[in-house]
Amino acid sequence: MANTKLIAGNWKMNGLSTDGLSRAKHIADFATKNKSDLNGKADILLAPPATLISALHDVTKPSPVFLGGQDCHPETSGAFTGDLSAEMLKDAGCSYIITGHSERRAIHGETDELVSAKTAATHRAGMTAVVCVGETAVQRQAGEAEKTVKTQITQSLPDTILAGNTVIAYEPVWAIGTGLTATIEDIEAMHGFIRNLLEKSFPVIATTHLLYGGSVKGANAAQILSCANVDGVLVGGASLNGQEFCDIIAAAL
Ligand code: PGA
Repeated sequence: MANTKLIAGNWKMNGLSTDGLSRAKHIADFATKNKSDLNGKADILLAPPATLISALHDVTKPSPVFLGGQDCHPETSGAFTGDLSAEMLKDAGCSYIITGHSERRAIHGETDELVSAKTAATHRAGMTAVVCVGETAVQRQAGEAEKTVKTQITQSLPDTILAGNTVIAYEPVWAIGTGLTATIEDIEAMHGFIRNLLEKSFPVIATTHLLYGGSVKGANAAQILSCANVDGVLVGGASLNGQEFCDIIAAAL
């Protein structure tokens, strides 16, 4: 288990310069004020829409807040209209990229193979990938949650993984944006399963951060963060409220 928790906010397709900048400032100010408490206990990551990364970087640079992209293209550059490379995201101020989010997998039809290529691109650019996995409600009801997650992890991790460049986020699809969270027992069972899988098949990242995501909020963060093998959270909806996100960070201290 990692000692330092990673508290990550995924803003998805939300935020204009007005609300996004003030929210980032609120979080950066909180992080700066609590810098000594955060040290060694929690890292903070914000993944805003790409349009806000540069402006947010100006706000977060003096603070202990990292920035991340929500997706990237596998190639470095080229004729890929509308896409962004990992190198571009790094240039704009990112040090992480989320790959394989369930919304990318479902809405954009991303396969494990593509997620693996995007994860490798993140590594190529010298950044850390937050690789997302998680079963749907149908897969869980069919008793296939572990099998699904195992396949996603096994096929989404490229051979560029190294200690320190890959985080795994377990996000049951049925818990994302629904207000439903997995039970503490389910979270601990799946995170234990993932930890064993990494130890057996991907020992180089055996002790990496395992994040839980799916309707995490201020009110349930402390309980989730205290689960065995939960090294942080990936927060969607609740990360759009600056104060609530700070409450989630505080739950890790
Ligand atoms: P949620 O989203 O916190 O709104 O459930 C989590 C995510 O998609 O990362």
